[in-house]
Amino acid sequence: MSDPMMIVTSIEELRSARPLLDGPVGFVPTMGFLHAGHLALVRRAREECASVVVSIFVNPTQFGPNEDLDKYPRDLERDIRLLDEAGANLLWTPTPEEMYPPGYQTWVEVEGLTRPLEGAVRPGHFRGVTTVVTKLFNAVQPQKAYFGQKDAQQAAVIRRMTRDLNFPIEIVVCPTVREPDGLAMSSRNTYLNPQERQAAVVLYRALKTAQSAYEAGERDAAVLRRLMSEVIESEPLARLQYVSCADYDSLEELEQVSSKALLSMAVFIGKTRLIDNLVLE
Ligand code: PAJ
Repeated sequence: MSDPMMIVTSIEELRSARPLLDGPVGFVPTMGFLHAGHLALVRRAREECASVVVSIFVNPTQFGPNEDLDKYPRDLERDIRLLDEAGANLLWTPTPEEMYPPGYQTWVEVEGLTRPLEGAVRPGHFRGVTTVVTKLFNAVQPQKAYFGQKDAQQAAVIRRMTRDLNFPIEIVVCPTVREPDGLAMSSRNTYLNPQERQAAVVLYRALKTAQSAYEAGERDAAVLRRLMSEVIESEPLARLQYVSCADYDSLEELEQVSSKALLSMAVFIGKTRLIDNLVLE
């Protein structure tokens, strides 16, 4: 039996607990309401590290004014149970008051990579993500940090930031965990009513349609984007926000797929905004 999970809230408590952990330390930052996708990151960290730190913080600075900060789902009791079972050693649940005290005015910003895709439709989002992840990294001081491919652009931006700012942290990106029908797991799936939940599989269907066309030899990125749009538009409850076939490294839209590419999209199912992606190798 391993020791029970420690739970800390203030940065001071975290600083006292941190030296008690055996290294290497693996870190999994989250916004809570955990699902199998988050837990896969924790398990991977368990496999690769002596200790695992998880943070749960619904970071206000990465939400736009008309986004779902106020109704973002929370269930700390359940999250604690799941993390304990998954073998996390330390849970940190910072408060917004301590992370962003009055007078706060320091930001971390990645340039080019944050401009397209999510960055184009969620202004300020990645500035909030990179700022909070920097603060979390500085406090936790992990050797490795785990992120999901589900948020492909976020993972790319965090990788870039880690290199650019010389954080001595290895960024590990883990595969997207999906429901049996293909819907990517997300805390936001809880917003979907049963009818919308059924409709939500359309994102994965659209991605698979384009992937099949690619495997059959289609290399025209505009054709792949159109195939995805058509599948989304065939679902009455879905409204397409963007669809993309971009270079995997630069995230710039492609004309022809000649090297590793990222198919990605954002789709509203009713009022719920979902994102998903697949990589073309
Ligand atoms: P959150 O949405 O809670 O996700 C935490 C981590 O879990 C992210 O790295 C995300 O990519 C990963 N994840 C989510 N769904 C997944 C799935 N279905 N399969 C695999 N991994 C999945 O992403 C955030 O929080 C925040 O932006 C954060 C990085 C914590 C900064 O606030």
